[in-house]
Amino acid sequence: MSNQPVSRRRRSSSRKQKSRRRTLTPRGPKSRDRHWLYQESVQSPDVHFGFFDRAYRRLNGSTPRVLKEDFCGTALLASEWVEWRRENTAIGVDLHAPTLAWGKKYNLARLTPEQRARVRLQRANVLHVTRPRADLVVALNFSYFIFRTRDALREYFRAARRSLAPGGMFIGDIFGGWDTQKPKTERTRHSGFTYLWEMDRFDPVTNFVRFHIHFEFRDRGGIRRAFTYDWRLWSIPEIREILHEAGFRHVDIYWEGIDRRSGHGNSVFRRAERGENAPGWIAFFVAYDGAKRR
Ligand SMILES: C[S@@+](CC[C@H](N)C(=O)[O-])C[C@H]1O[C@@H](n2cnc3c(N)ncnc32)[C@H](O)[C@@H]1O
Repeated sequence: MSNQPVSRRRRSSSRKQKSRRRTLTPRGPKSRDRHWLYQESVQSPDVHFGFFDRAYRRLNGSTPRVLKEDFCGTALLASEWVEWRRENTAIGVDLHAPTLAWGKKYNLARLTPEQRARVRLQRANVLHVTRPRADLVVALNFSYFIFRTRDALREYFRAARRSLAPGGMFIGDIFGGWDTQKPKTERTRHSGFTYLWEMDRFDPVTNFVRFHIHFEFRDRGGIRRAFTYDWRLWSIPEIREILHEAGFRHVDIYWEGIDRRSGHGNSVFRRAERGENAPGWIAFFVAYDGAKRR
């Protein structure tokens, strides 16, 4: 969902257009499957890979190979990572067996046997998997917002740090902006269906928030509450502080640029110490200790 839960004014449309996967998506009955609809609506992993590569190269002067996708869901990112480069390997970790099974059936199945052999999926809690070590550990679509106390989030960040190989980086996305606390439903049209992102409730005392994803089909019907998220809305300074408390020596924030003509995010993320007070924004944190010794 990296490009969803923010106001349209600051959102990228280019991500979708650039995805190689879009040419491979199924039609027919499978296109009413909530996982397929989710992937179509909110995931374009290959668009992230250039950013991951650049951040890693900047630190280490080399290319990352081993990627660990925490909260991997259907493992779309892990699958595309092994397609991206022949030397790449991926580890996907998720708690939910049926979602992992769906990913095996539809995402891993379309890989070649050689590519499939470079993906390892594990049904487990992200707090408990720290081996094999990875060059990149990524937690995308804000999945780590499920940890709703500082202690719980710190425990997760510590586990992510323990999972890193020398020179490794931990990367996650963050969203915010004053518009994200407003109860509302945003609609995005896709071919054959509409994606709805509903902000259901927000509690300013705890910052606990509930979002739903619904789908409406162009012909008739749809899926109400296909996915529900009970999260805490974390701020960038909180995340930075907790990453440092978990032991990371450096935490960089990458802020998305804006396309001046459309007013949407342009999917170009640059290191920043200050952001623009936009109604909705997306950023990445990149946490690391130091470069790999050469
Ligand atoms: C929002 S989905 C993210 C899917 C995908 N990473 C993406 O970018 O869209 C969140 C996933 O996290 C999984 N999950 C939640 N808590 C977890 C935990 N403690 N350990 C492992 N997986 C967890 C859920 O089963 C679900 O598949």
